[in-house]
Amino acid sequence: LKTEALQLVEQAEDAKALQDVKVQYLGKKGPITEVLRGMGKLSAEERPVIGQLANEVRESIQGAIEEKQARFEKEALEKQLSEETIDVTMPGRPEPAGGPHLLTKIIEDMEDLFIGMGFNVAEGPEVEQDYYNFEALNLPKGHPARDMQDSFYITEELLLRTHTSSVQARTMENSEGKGPVKIICPGVVYRRDTDDATHSHQFTQAEGLYVDKHVRMSDLKGVLNEFAKHMFGDERDIRLRPSFFPFTEPSVEMDISCKVCGGEGCSVCKGTGWIEILGAGMVHPNVLEMAGYDSKEYTGFAFGIGVERIAMLKYGIEDIRHFYTNDVRFLNQFHKA
Ligand code: PHE
Repeated sequence: LKTEALQLVEQAEDAKALQDVKVQYLGKKGPITEVLRGMGKLSAEERPVIGQLANEVRESIQGAIEEKQARFEKEALEKQLSEETIDVTMPGRPEPAGGPHLLTKIIEDMEDLFIGMGFNVAEGPEVEQDYYNFEALNLPKGHPARDMQDSFYITEELLLRTHTSSVQARTMENSEGKGPVKIICPGVVYRRDTDDATHSHQFTQAEGLYVDKHVRMSDLKGVLNEFAKHMFGDERDIRLRPSFFPFTEPSVEMDISCKVCGGEGCSVCKGTGWIEILGAGMVHPNVLEMAGYDSKEYTGFAFGIGVERIAMLKYGIEDIRHFYTNDVRFLNQFHKA
């Protein structure tokens, strides 16, 4: 019986098989229990002999089982440990990293460029007084040009600014001692437009302003030429066309030469060879006077750049709504741009 049991212990390949052997030989219905239970029927001489033998057998089977059990436990632990080992040489999983939005990058690039030309960066409120958005820019109440920029009014005197030119009016007014002002003001503006591929009720502008003694149109052209070449490449030409803005006189619109084709059937410039990119002009004397400058002594130029428009032309983006819907597949393309 002992040999048989020990052999089975030896053969047991897992904890379950071992348990079966234990139940079979040492359990309540097992042969040893049976022998011990039958002791009462034995004679006084037989009892100690059989009892000792049965106990011996039980102990040795029990011992073998425990030994084997301990081995199984040790093996299981070792297996678990080896499976859980951390391989420090394994390459790490890259965590997706965010980055600045394309519009932010373009604004920062523009700021760097203009700071290099001696401009400061200025900011102003998005909820603006009618005075700074219109009146101080030579757009008095009832002026027909106010129709050009349908606006979000909050009260009769407060609105969401329709252009960053409001910062121009504020900065000139605040200029202590009425000395020179040379600023670039990037920011968000709002207009009552129905959103489509090229219109958005909210977009980004960067206005530039330089007021000093003897500022001339040629200075404006020089600065804008720098800007165009920096943004679109040295091979680009610029041209100024007469235009109208109430706050500048004369006013111009600037085109850059169309690199894509310049020829007929071109979707970018419609075959004209030129693409309009911004509005500009010499600060209107009324605007200077309203801000407290003597327009006989001081002159200035201003320009207004649509940041989305620059980005769309530079990267061939066909829908302005891509900038705001924040699909990462769109945004990720410009991480290294
Ligand atoms: N404020 C004008 C606009 O929003 C742009 C502009 C700025 C034009 C400065 C001339 C001078 O369209």
